[in-house]
Amino acid sequence: MGWLEGEVALITGGGSGIGRAVALRYLAEGASVAVLGRGTAQLEEVVAAAGDLSDRVLPLTGDVRSPDDLHRAVDATVKRFGKLDILVPNAGIWDYHRSVTKLDGKELSEAFDEIFGINVKGYVLAVEAAWRELVATRGSIVMTLSNASFHTDGGGPLYTASKHACLGLLRQFAYELAPKVRVNGVATGGMRTKLRGPQSLGLQDRTLAASFAKNEATGQEQQPLIPLYDSSVEPEDFTGPYVLLASRANSGTVTGAVIPADGGIAVRGFRSPAGGAGL
Ligand SMILES: NC(=O)c1ccc[n+]([C@@H]2O[C@H](COP(=O)([O-])OP(=O)(O)OC[C@H]3O[C@@H](n4cnc5c(N)ncnc54)[C@H](O)[C@@H]3O)[C@@H](O)[C@H]2O)c1
Repeated sequence: MGWLEGEVALITGGGSGIGRAVALRYLAEGASVAVLGRGTAQLEEVVAAAGDLSDRVLPLTGDVRSPDDLHRAVDATVKRFGKLDILVPNAGIWDYHRSVTKLDGKELSEAFDEIFGINVKGYVLAVEAAWRELVATRGSIVMTLSNASFHTDGGGPLYTASKHACLGLLRQFAYELAPKVRVNGVATGGMRTKLRGPQSLGLQDRTLAASFAKNEATGQEQQPLIPLYDSSVEPEDFTGPYVLLASRANSGTVTGAVIPADGGIAVRGFRSPAGGAGL
C-alpha cells in the first residue's frame, strides 16, 4: 500500500526536473497524476516513463501565467480522475545569479515581469484554479520552494525575491484555506535539472544541469558548501518530503510548514564548509 493510494494530484511543471520526479513518485505511492507543462514531448516522456502505470498519468499542455489554461487543467483532471486531492505548484525559472550590478533598468524590468509571472503569478493562479476542488476533497497543496525562499545567493535578486514571495503565498494560503485545505512546501536545494532562465535575458536555452561547476584539475563537480556536501543532487532523491506532506495519514495536522531538503544550508559552520568535511 502506498502513502497516496487513490489520491489525485496536479503538478505544474511536471514534465521535467523535480516536477517529473514527484509525478513518478506519487504514481508509485498509488496516486493518479496530471502533469501540466509547456512541451508536449516532455509530457509524453513522463507518460512513457510511467510504464505500467501510464493509465494513471494525464499530460496537459498550458502556461501557468494563463488563468484559462490552469482552469482547463483542473477541469480536465477532475473529468479524467473524478476529483483533485493534491496541487503541486512547481513550474519555475531561474535568473542565473544575475546581480543588480550587472543588469540595466530595462533588463531588470523585463526579467522581473517574466520571473515573477511564472514563479509567483503562476503559483497564485494555480491555487485560484484549484481551491474549490481541494476544498471539496479536504485536500492539500505542496509547493516547491527553494533555499532561495530563506537564504541569499541561491540566485540573484529577482529569483530570490520570487521564492521569498512564494513563502509568503504559502503562509497566506495556509491561513485562508484552513481548515479545509492544508498548505505546505518543500524548500529544495540545488538539483541537477534543466531549470532554465528568462527569455528576456536570452537565457531560455541554458540549463542549470549544464552549470554544475567542474573542478578544472579533477574534472569533478565542485561540492557545494553545505553540511551534506556529498549528498545527491538528483531530483528523485528530493521527493520524500512531497509524499510526507501530501499524506493525509501522516501530515493531517500539518499546515503552513516548509521542509528544507537542501543538505542543511541553515546549519553551515563558520570555520569549514561543513561540520564533518574533514572526517
Ligand atoms: N533545480 C534546482 O536546483 C532548484 C532548487 C530550488 C528550487 N527549484 C525550483 O524547482 C522548481 C522546478 O524546477 P526544476 O529545477 O525541476 O527545473 P525544470 O526546468 O526541469 O522544471 C521546471 C518546469 O516548469 C516548466 N515551465 C516553465 N515555465 C512554464 C510556464 N510558463 N508554464 C508552464 N510550465 C512552465 C518547464 O517547462 C519545466 O518543465 C522551480 O520552481 C524551481 O525554482 C529548483
